[in-house]
Amino acid sequence: MIRPERREDQPAVFQVNLEAFGRPNEALLVDALRRSPTFLPELSLVALDGSRVVGHILFTAVEVKGTTRSHPALALAPMAVLPAFQRRGIGSSLVRRGLDDARALGHAVVIVVGHPAFYPRFGFVPAKPLDIRAPFEVSSAAFMALELRPDALRGVRGEVRYPPEFADVEG
Ligand SMILES: CC(C)(COP(=O)(O)OP(=O)(O)OC[C@H]1O[C@@H](n2cnc3c(N)ncnc32)[C@H](O)[C@@H]1OP(=O)(O)O)[C@@H](O)C(=O)NCCC(=O)NCCS
Repeated sequence: MIRPERREDQPAVFQVNLEAFGRPNEALLVDALRRSPTFLPELSLVALDGSRVVGHILFTAVEVKGTTRSHPALALAPMAVLPAFQRRGIGSSLVRRGLDDARALGHAVVIVVGHPAFYPRFGFVPAKPLDIRAPFEVSSAAFMALELRPDALRGVRGEVRYPPEFADVEG
């Protein structure tokens, strides 16, 4: 079962991120992003096993800032599944549901920094050849983009501007 998070899910979402990443950075990032204007409550999704939150995915609003114009996009980050529940397809289900919901809400482009073996199965392609650039050091294979409707990536180029909360996550 996957649904948007509710207020009472917040401690469990924190725990899922804490345990999946083995550090508090991403859990704290989610808490910080909830207070950001870039937070989209419909796109903070939880995966449930019974009534227990075992997975979480978040999409926040970003911009791809080109020289003449900026393009709205979403950043997929972070995503986490409790270690005991990994490799059962929960993460993939969260990605698919998140992309479907984002499309239904009218979003057009999604950016992700993630495993190059995982995200292409959902349609993500390397962003660098499209001249979409990250504002930080990242291997070009890990920096990917996806269009939620045909040709949505056409003309989208520039540097991705993340909410400032992301700057605190690496440690
Ligand atoms: C990434 C993550 C959310 C995937 O969730 P999941 O429920 O295990 O995902 P799925 O069962 O759909 O697995 C699909 C793929 O994930 C990858 N994967 C999942 N768990 C993995 C693990 N422990 N080690 C390495 N790869 C893993 C595999 O490539 C797998 O591909 P396969 O189908 O070819 O085997 C989960 O492993 C996790 O929480 N990891 C720690 C946090 C993290 O790194 N998040 C992503 C960065 S934001």
